[in-house]
Amino acid sequence: MFIRNHGIISIGSGFRANSGFTANPIGGDTVLRLIVNHHGRLIIKDRVGISNSTIVCVNSVEIGNDVFIGGNCKIWDTDFHSLEPEQRIHNGSQGTRTAPIVIGDRSFIGGSTIILKGVSIGSESVIGAGSVVTKSVPAGEIWAGNPARFVRKLHNSSSRDESDVHQ
Ligand SMILES: CC(C)(COP(=O)(O)OP(=O)(O)OC[C@H]1O[C@@H](n2cnc3c(N)ncnc32)[C@H](O)[C@@H]1OP(=O)(O)O)[C@@H](O)C(=O)NCCC(=O)NCCS
Repeated sequence: MFIRNHGIISIGSGFRANSGFTANPIGGDTVLRLIVNHHGRLIIKDRVGISNSTIVCVNSVEIGNDVFIGGNCKIWDTDFHSLEPEQRIHNGSQGTRTAPIVIGDRSFIGGSTIILKGVSIGSESVIGAGSVVTKSVPAGEIWAGNPARFVRKLHNSSSRDESDVHQ
């Protein structure tokens, strides 16, 4: 496991962090990495499980209660570099866009998913393996693909309606 914290990391009770092949072969070709820069705020609530994934937080990443995050996921609340070539090449991180990420209670993020800046995942939603999530996902739905699209609603979901999605 690799943790670099220059901001705030808060982890609730019952956290399960699988790092490396012996902890979970899924995504076990990498390790769990939590990287929080100055001004970054990573909040992990209770009973969250994460396997061999990387979270990079320069703004805000919030993970709700009872969330499962599969092997080899990437959660980045930043583009890392400016889209403007002059800024990117000459001015370090200046002009880089960032936006908070919220992953709702009881959601399930399939292995090798990438969640990009500004995305909120509603409570109890499921993201299919290998998805690239570029837009917010309402509560109680399955989304998958690149870019992730609506697949279907979950049966028997106790989650609330779309107003549950944090913007
Ligand atoms: C998302 C998921 C849970 C959906 O399962 P399901 O309800 O049985 O869905 P289906 O297999 O019936 O597929 C429904 C549709 O979604 C598509 N789909 C399913 N999973 C997808 C994925 N990961 N990426 C892109 N499309 C996907 C199917 O192709 C199908 O499309 P169609 O309606 O056009 O034919 C499952 O496909 C999945 O990705 N599981 C991965 C679990 C995982 O990563 N675990 C992590 C372990 S660490």
